[in-house]
Amino acid sequence: MKIKSICCIGAGYVGGPTMAVIAQKCPHIKVTVVDVNASRVASWNAKDLTQLPVFEPGLDEVVKEARGRNLFFSTAIEQAIDQADMIFISVNTPTKTYGKGKGMAADLKYIELCARQIAKVAKQDKIVVEKSTLPVRTAEAIKNILNNTGNGVQFQILSNPEFLAEGTAVQDLLNPDRVLIGGDTTKEGQGAIQALVDIYAHWVPQDRILTTNVWSSELSKLTANAFLAQRVSSINAMSAICEQSGADVNEVAKAIGMDSRIGSKFLKTSVGFGGSCFQKDILNLVYIAKSYGLNEVADYWEQVILINEHQKNRFSDKIVSTLYNTVSGKKITFLGWAFKKDTNDSRESAAIKVADNLLNELAHLTVYDPKVTEERIYGDLEYLNSRSEEENRELLTVGKDPYEACKDAHAIAVLTEWDEFTTYDWEQIYESMNKPAFVFDGRGILDTESLEAIGFTCYTIGKGS
Ligand code: NAD
Ligand code: UGA
Repeated sequence: MKIKSICCIGAGYVGGPTMAVIAQKCPHIKVTVVDVNASRVASWNAKDLTQLPVFEPGLDEVVKEARGRNLFFSTAIEQAIDQADMIFISVNTPTKTYGKGKGMAADLKYIELCARQIAKVAKQDKIVVEKSTLPVRTAEAIKNILNNTGNGVQFQILSNPEFLAEGTAVQDLLNPDRVLIGGDTTKEGQGAIQALVDIYAHWVPQDRILTTNVWSSELSKLTANAFLAQRVSSINAMSAICEQSGADVNEVAKAIGMDSRIGSKFLKTSVGFGGSCFQKDILNLVYIAKSYGLNEVADYWEQVILINEHQKNRFSDKIVSTLYNTVSGKKITFLGWAFKKDTNDSRESAAIKVADNLLNELAHLTVYDPKVTEERIYGDLEYLNSRSEEENRELLTVGKDPYEACKDAHAIAVLTEWDEFTTYDWEQIYESMNKPAFVFDGRGILDTESLEAIGFTCYTIGKGS
């Protein structure tokens, strides 16, 4: 089957960039990205490309090239479903906040809504592609809904999980380590797989396009995220030992990373991993293991999250204990709020938990982040429900200028590894602060020696003394 028209349901961090790259690389395919969120769609259509709802280096160029040619963003969901030969489902799959599996299982209500809408609208055979990250065997539920429409339309369900990381999404999409496509072993299933392979083959070498059965594909995505997050928790666990023992976690990471069996990537210690997926996907994995009665397996993976929580708490505890056990009324400036550099995304960012802990101690926080909006920062805190909206606004201000934000601070805490933080005039910052002036580097990006030469007292995560 030759695909001429694609619809993607969900214009978020995955749907937007992924479809923009498919449209750029396949100008003969019409790609329509639809969403229920009209303001998000309007931002994708904004003339001013700095207003795109997702900030990703290089994304503006891709959108500029394809938008209006064969890439469209729209709220006309039914029309786009009707016209498409292939429909990607790229909606959010957050952790359930109610009922059975609350706080662990993936909430599949948005996925099911999509399946029902496709079932309602479709008049011709279609290939439905799971792009969202889903529990293993979700394709079965989608298939059940689609195959009970009674209108004779044939559906093939594929799993095509996305492995892009935010901040490098465009590069990851243009040059992926692999593309994974899972489908049925039947003739029709293999035909659907081939149709999707043919799309990626426009820019991805064939040997990087991997095809499997549906369940392996679904489970590989959760497994990949679990392994990645486990590496971060492992090095973060070691960072605590380094601080106690006088070792330097960067030296340890380098030493172990040179072992080709371990590898050097993803061993950067931090104040804790964030992002919308690691925690949710591991919780989901834990839930799946428990539902199969594999309690020891569940406990094993749950530790990855417990260490991550510990790391965030350890950082805020360190700030409080260093500031003479009281931060009440003291100004502490956060450099960074995003969960990593080069993104405007702050979902599950470590900064949120660290801020919440310090606000519980009545610290006065000022946050400066180059890309995260003020609205989002307050939204993140409000979501926690730890205190009233007014109290959050009283205790925390959002700075527009880093030098202003640091003025009169007792301490600066680096929460995100934005490159610009390393280029600041730290002497000027020192002059404007309360003394003794403290820096808590939760990302290990600052040159501690030169900061100490200026007069700062420094703590760097994972660095023993
Ligand atoms: P997101 O919240 O940024 O975007 C999801 C979009 O879907 C929202 O704009 C929402 O309005 C829309 N939506 C929800 N229900 C809808 C419906 N019924 N009809 C139309 N639109 C609907 O989420 P995201 O970060 O893009 O993640 C999407 C999926 O991809 C998740 O399963 C996630 O685990 C997975 N994933 C995310 C990343 C990432 O880096 N963010 C990477 C790989 C995989
Ligand atoms: C991660 C995976 O890397 C992607 O492959 C996956 O597609 C995606 O999740 C997803 O499913 O959502 P992402 O969360 O965007 O991507 O970003 P990462 O680069 O993985 O970083 C996640 C968190 O771990 C960040 O807070 C980052 O600062 C932290 N991290 C990462 C470390 O603390 N140390 C490291 O060495 C690497």
